[in-house]
Amino acid sequence: MTKKLLFLLDTDPAPSVFDTVVGYDGGADRVVGYGGVTAENAGPLVDGTIFTRGPKEKQYTAIFVGGSSMIAGEAVFAAVKKRFFANFRVSVMLDSNGSNTTAAAGVALLAKAKPLKGKTAVVLAGTGPVGMRAAAMLHSEGAEVAITSRSKQRAEAAAKAIKDRFGFAPVPLETRDNAARAAAIKDADAVFAAGAIGAPLLSEKDWQDSPKIELMADCNAQPPLGIAGIEATDKAKERHGKIVIGALGLGGLKLKLHRACIGQLFESSDQLLDAENIYAQAKSLA
Ligand SMILES: NC(=O)c1ccc[n+]([C@@H]2O[C@H](COP(=O)([O-])OP(=O)(O)OC[C@H]3O[C@@H](n4cnc5c(N)ncnc54)[C@H](OP(=O)(O)O)[C@@H]3O)[C@@H](O)[C@H]2O)c1
Repeated sequence: MTKKLLFLLDTDPAPSVFDTVVGYDGGADRVVGYGGVTAENAGPLVDGTIFTRGPKEKQYTAIFVGGSSMIAGEAVFAAVKKRFFANFRVSVMLDSNGSNTTAAAGVALLAKAKPLKGKTAVVLAGTGPVGMRAAAMLHSEGAEVAITSRSKQRAEAAAKAIKDRFGFAPVPLETRDNAARAAAIKDADAVFAAGAIGAPLLSEKDWQDSPKIELMADCNAQPPLGIAGIEATDKAKERHGKIVIGALGLGGLKLKLHRACIGQLFESSDQLLDAENIYAQAKSLA
């Protein structure tokens, strides 16, 4: 039986342990990680995947692009695709820092709880990989989207990168502290917290009395949580009259989705998994 080989091309110096474990749990027989991958040095790694197996076995070789920078991940994903020609290609998934799978799980659960069309959504700390993808997925549901950052410059840079990839730019907002983030969500219907692990973004009093907010999700599972007053295990739980989802509440779907996508990579050699098809799959699993 031909072995299922998954090559992790990680833009960080060390390939992700998380992505390695989920690679195995998703069905790979062997996961091989490369760190420090860039658009410039990815070519020979890609060549090794496309020139080594015949047409019938090629589907058992796949590439996963990861790392902590969405922009660097997108560049490697583009370089990998560019290296392919004719039938010399393998399936590839882009999921820098769990960007697509985590955002897809969170947004799909919010959209399942209540329609987002015509609603206003704010992605707190939306400059990281998860927040940037969440902004795009919220937009795809018909929401008006803003992203916040502690720096105006970083918010604008992320909004531009989102526009370059998805053709729409979220409103970039500078929010230096909890008070500024509380002001940013005052008129929001939905709040998606995508701050770094262990970074608190809102206190409970910043949102509990809001007459407007209907939906909230927080991705950060490590205390202090991103949004105080939401338990990590909450999954479409009602708190203060709002439907809330915590990091572990969405994490189950994220892992199920991530594993399903890995399994899908080995079904044929022509799959390109990124935000749109990963989000569609999240909706079918939510
Ligand atoms: N639940 C799950 O299954 C799951 C899976 C994967 C990831 N995650 C979580 O998803 C979250 C987002 O992941 P990511 O990789 O996109 O995050 P990230 O890139 O590490 O951070 C996102 C943003 O957080 C902001 N930030 C950093 N330190 C902060 C601080 N002290 N106070 C306020 N803001 C701060 C930064 O924005 P500015 O500098 O622009 O302000 C940064 O761009 C993380 O908490 C991660 O652990 C959850």
